Amino acid sequence: MITVENLALRYPRGKEDVLRGISFRVEPGEIFGFLGPSGAGKSTLQKVLTGILLQYRGRVTVLGTEVRERTAEFYEQIGVVFEFPNFYGKFTALENLAYFASLYRRPASDPLHLLARVGLAAEAGKRVSAYSKGMKMRLAFVRAVLHQPKLLFLDEPTSGLDPAHARVIKDLVLEMKRNGTTVILTTHNMHDAEELCDRVAFLVDGAIRALDTPSGLCAYQNEPVVEYTYREAGSERQGMTPLAALKDDQVFLKHLQAGNLTRVETKEATLEDVFIQLTGRCLH
Ligand SMILES: Nc1ncnc2c1ncn2[C@@H]1O[C@H](COP(=O)(O)OP(=O)(O)OP(=O)(O)O)[C@@H](O)[C@H]1O
Ligand SMILES: [Mg+2]
Repeated sequence: MITVENLALRYPRGKEDVLRGISFRVEPGEIFGFLGPSGAGKSTLQKVLTGILLQYRGRVTVLGTEVRERTAEFYEQIGVVFEFPNFYGKFTALENLAYFASLYRRPASDPLHLLARVGLAAEAGKRVSAYSKGMKMRLAFVRAVLHQPKLLFLDEPTSGLDPAHARVIKDLVLEMKRNGTTVILTTHNMHDAEELCDRVAFLVDGAIRALDTPSGLCAYQNEPVVEYTYREAGSERQGMTPLAALKDDQVFLKHLQAGNLTRVETKEATLEDVFIQLTGRCLH
């Protein structure tokens, strides 16, 4: 679906490259994620993959076409949710969708059905200028999938959404995958990456630092960590120590013998733990 070799990009008046030596492949039917903090280059990378930024170096083949040489046919096959979606504010959601659907030769799905799926049925006839940020994000998702694209690009698809609406969007993404759509998404939300993605690339300062399945990445964490809670002087306290060092943790041993422990658990590494360990950076 996508082959990228040694991609680099510098903005016209930029001093340095914001994408550096990026190489990866995306297989058909995969959900492939880029996880990285603000400024890592996620949106820039999506703009290269979707043919919006063309001054890149290296090779970027999407659906068999070098993106620099894309034609209108390319846009028939992809759907894009932009970071800052734009609509015609004076038109209603349905009018906007009818307009965007008219730009494609491919048949469009029923817009009202899709609006209902994302909880916008009652607002379908409302001007988009009166929409909240979260409503616009959901409308942007509907617009991106209306023509049933083979390949879907999502830039932070759950940003600005409350947990219930984020759930709806994530379920729709998983449903599209089951129907054979390939999905590329960018996020700084490790839960979204962990739950949705077949493979995840860690992106920092415009470069890929690691690339694997979410569970493969979590296995990078050197050793399990034990978290324990104990009662002392009438209050609950917590301790944390690597499993291998537990036998030498004097606090733990003391409270184990005194029978003060109330909870002991091995903590699974999260994607964020591994991200920090591998890149030395936080996601936020
Ligand atoms: N139009 C532009 N001109 C010059 N530099 C830019 C432009 N757009 C982005 N940049 C720079 O490129 C780098 C990557 O930005 P980008 O928007 O791709 O990051 P991001 O990972 O999407 O961040 P966020 O999570 O905040 O959306 C940043 O250093 C940013 O300042
Ligand atoms: Mg961005």
